[in-house]
Amino acid sequence: MEFSTLTTASLHQIKTAALAVGVFADGMLTPAADVIDRASHGALREVLKKEFLAKAGTHLALRKLEGVSANQVILIGLGKQDAYNASVHAKAEQVFANFCVQARIGEAVSTLAATECPAAGLAQRAQAAAAAAGQAAYRYDATFSKRERDDAPRLKKFALSVTRAQAAETQRGLRNGAAIAQGANLARELGNLPANVCTPTYLGDVARKLAREFKSLKAEVLERKQIEALKMGSFLSVARGSYEPPAFIILKHTPPGAKGAGKSRKAPIVLVGKGITFDAGGISLKPAANMDEMKYDMCGAASVLGTLRAVAEIGLEQEVIGLIPSCENLPSGRANKPGDVVTSMSGQTIEILNTDAEGRLVLCDALTYAERYKPAAVIDIATLTGACIIALGHVNSGLFSKDDALADSLLQAGRQANDTAWRLPLEDAYQEQLQSNFADIANIGGRPAGSVTAACFLSRFTGAYPWAHLDIAGTAWRSGKDKGGTGRPVPLLVQYLLNQA
Ligand code: BES
Ligand code: MN
Ligand code: ZN
Repeated sequence: MEFSTLTTASLHQIKTAALAVGVFADGMLTPAADVIDRASHGALREVLKKEFLAKAGTHLALRKLEGVSANQVILIGLGKQDAYNASVHAKAEQVFANFCVQARIGEAVSTLAATECPAAGLAQRAQAAAAAAGQAAYRYDATFSKRERDDAPRLKKFALSVTRAQAAETQRGLRNGAAIAQGANLARELGNLPANVCTPTYLGDVARKLAREFKSLKAEVLERKQIEALKMGSFLSVARGSYEPPAFIILKHTPPGAKGAGKSRKAPIVLVGKGITFDAGGISLKPAANMDEMKYDMCGAASVLGTLRAVAEIGLEQEVIGLIPSCENLPSGRANKPGDVVTSMSGQTIEILNTDAEGRLVLCDALTYAERYKPAAVIDIATLTGACIIALGHVNSGLFSKDDALADSLLQAGRQANDTAWRLPLEDAYQEQLQSNFADIANIGGRPAGSVTAACFLSRFTGAYPWAHLDIAGTAWRSGKDKGGTGRPVPLLVQYLLNQA
C-alpha cells in the first residue's frame, strides 16, 4: 500500500473516494468536522442532531455532500471528548480502514490523526493510521484454487491530511506504521498457512528469503545434526515423533550504522519465538475438537519473523536477533513418552510428565542458546498455555518478568501500539509445583496457575540476562467465523524496539 501526506488547507476540496472525519459524542466537532460542516452549510451538525450518536467504534457514510468534493464523507464516532485517547484514535483509524476495505474503496484520505490527543504525538498517531490501514487490506488467498478470488480494487492508496508544518513528522510515523503492518501481515500469513505447507523447513526458507530481501538481515538455519551438536536434548525430544525435520532458525538484524569500525555496539535484544508448526499434543494427544487451530502454534515464531521484517524495513538503530526452535509435536512410535527424562542444553534434566507441554521444552534450549549474545534483554513469545486464555481471554497477551523495568517498557509499548499485554505473577512460590522425583524439574505444574508455572519453567533457563515472556495463546489468532491470525504481538514488539533504539 502507498502512504502519503496531503497538505491542502481546504478539506472540502479534497477529491477522494472516502474522507474520514472524526466527531465526538458530546456534539463537539473536530477541526476537520467543522470545516466540512461549514462547507456543507451545516449538513454535518444536522446529521449529528438526528442520526449519528458518534459513539466510539461507529461510523456513518454520507454520500455526495453539497459543497464537499469527496465522494463520501465517513463520519467516525470518537466517543466523549474527555475520554478521547490514543487507543480510541487507533480504533477509529481501524474502523475507517475496515470500512474502506469492505466498501472496496481503492484510495482514501483520513483526517483523524490531525486531532490532538493525550499521550500520543503526531508521529504516533500517523503510525497508528498506517498500521491500521495496512492490516485492514490483508487477505488470505494462498491456498484457494484461484489466487485472486475477486478483482475488486483493494485499498491501495491511503493519505493523511495534515498541515505543511506537520508533514515531515507525519511521514516518519507513516513509515513506521507501514512497516508494522507488513510485519504483522507476514505473521498472520504464516499463522494462517496450513501445517502441511508451513513446516519448520518452510519457516527457515522464509527467514532466508527475508535475508535476501533486506540487507541488514542475516539468516542461519541449523538442521538436526547441528542441533544435536549443540546438545539441545529437550528441543530434540519434541521433534522425535515427527517425520518433518526440525529447524533452529537464527535471523539477525545489524543496524546499518553499526558495521563501520570503532563504533561501540549496544548489546543486542533477542526475541525467541515458539515454532511448533503443528501441536497434536504428542502421546498426550489432544482431543479432536478444534485441533486444526494448533497450526497456529508457531505464531510466536511468526511474530519474531514479522518483527524482524519490520525492524529491517525501518532500518532500526538497534541490533535484534530472532531465535526460532521449530518442529512438530506428533504422536508416533518414536515420540517421547510421559515419564521420559531428557537433558536440556543447559545440563538441567527434565521429566516430561505431559508431552503436550512441549512449548517450554523447545523454548528452554533456545533460551540457553541466547546466552552467547550477552543480550541486553531476551523476550520470548509463545502460544504457550490454554490457561492463559482462561486468565486473560483474547484481549491481553500474558506478560511475565522478574524485571520491573523491562515489564513496564513492554506494557507501555503495548498501550502505544494498541496491542496490549497484562502482567501476571512470576514468584518463586510457584516453583514448588514443578518438583520432580526423577529429574531436576518436571515439565508441568498441575492445573492451578498453569500459565504461571509454564513461565516458572522457562525462568529456570534465563538466569544470565534480563528476560520477559509473552504468552500469546489468546491473542495470536481468532477462532470461529473470522478464524485467522491477528499478527499480534508484532505491533507491541516493534514499538518496544523503536522505544529502545
Ligand atoms: N499450544 C498449546 C497451548 C494452547 C492450547 C494454545 C490451546 C492455544 C490454545 C500448548 O502446547 C499446550 O498444549 N499446553 C498445555 C499445557 C498443559 C499440558 C500443562 C495446555 O495449555 O493445556
Ligand atoms: Mn501442546
Ligand atoms: Zn503447543
